[in-house]
Amino acid sequence: MSADGPSRPDVAVYRRCLGEAVQMHSEMTTGDPTTPSAERIMALGLGFLGSKALLSAVELGVFSELAKEPLPLEVLAARLGLHPRGSRDFLDAMVALGMLQRMDDLYSNTPETDFFLDQAKPSYIGEIFNLGTRIYRFWGALTDALRTGLPQSEIKDGGAFFDVFYREPERLRQFLRAMSALTTGPAMAIAGKFPWQRYRTFIDIGCAEGALPVQVAGSHQHLSGGGFDLPPVAPAFDEYVKSSGLGDRLQFYPGDFFTDPLPAADVLIMGHILHDWNLEEKHLLIRKAYAALPTGGALIAYDSIIDDERRENAHGLLISLNMLIENEGGFDYTGADCRGWLESAGFSESYVEPLVGPISMVVGIK
Ligand SMILES: C[S@@+](CC[C@H](N)C(=O)[O-])C[C@H]1O[C@@H](n2cnc3c(N)ncnc32)[C@H](O)[C@@H]1O
Repeated sequence: MSADGPSRPDVAVYRRCLGEAVQMHSEMTTGDPTTPSAERIMALGLGFLGSKALLSAVELGVFSELAKEPLPLEVLAARLGLHPRGSRDFLDAMVALGMLQRMDDLYSNTPETDFFLDQAKPSYIGEIFNLGTRIYRFWGALTDALRTGLPQSEIKDGGAFFDVFYREPERLRQFLRAMSALTTGPAMAIAGKFPWQRYRTFIDIGCAEGALPVQVAGSHQHLSGGGFDLPPVAPAFDEYVKSSGLGDRLQFYPGDFFTDPLPAADVLIMGHILHDWNLEEKHLLIRKAYAALPTGGALIAYDSIIDDERRENAHGLLISLNMLIENEGGFDYTGADCRGWLESAGFSESYVEPLVGPISMVVGIK
């Protein structure tokens, strides 16, 4: 190749290879069921284009702006601060991906994006995508993580994940808000599916803002308890619980679950906790929960529990890879794995129950 770009022979070779690839691809997508189609491969391989476009739309506030009123291209682009070069393609791509509507040259939200991605609504889940935007750049180094087994996140240059990650107050708040958005659905399912009438007290271990305690206590008047987490989390928990009006039944227990004993309650919950840690740490946390429970008490662990055959819950498997990217030893697990750990800690019974989407809970009874 010359300094000005490909020389003539390189261009010819390049064009021939590209032509062959395109021809091969079109032969593979002829619709003939006997020839394999490359469609699924193409859709998955380049799926990150649409995914990143959505992350940017959330980051730019597209849906919050359109929730106020439908807008024409120029006005919307100006309000969002978009350069004219890409704005039309970007917004029309959102239309084509089913995230926006366009009628008479006016863009508007779909019912789904209006409900979930307008920052002004309590149903907003955009914080999850802020977390997505954060990990997007780390996922660019997945191949390195797979080769080295080393994290690629903020702790790439050393340090314990939560120490490093919580150093910036704004990042801590953003993370905790994202956890509430992720957990509210599973927490509602746990509030409905677990036999709470048999118990009186519960504590969510590693509770973040307290989305689960709020859902559970809000649905069951006879319960009291709260959440245990690192001390810097306390103000966010207090604010969230106070705004739910449940402050008289829910309290914050500050502590470190590796160095402090866990607070005692009839039911302990660990949501998105076990998957953060290595096997030895998982065993330690389960043993500590066992020690803190009365006989007959229950531990509920919920995560993107992988199916026992490790073939179906792609989300759980990818979240496990996210642990590889994020921290030093975390990994997701199957229901059978977790039930085995519960049994070895002394739990007498256990079961797995699906909650929402790829999330399930594993319940151990002492
Ligand atoms: C992935 S978040 C899960 C939050 C919440 N359970 C949920 O599912 O939405 C992990 C939580 O564990 C807390 N945590 C991490 N290390 C901890 C420790 N050593 N002791 C207590 N809590 C800890 C974090 O502050 C964070 O709130």
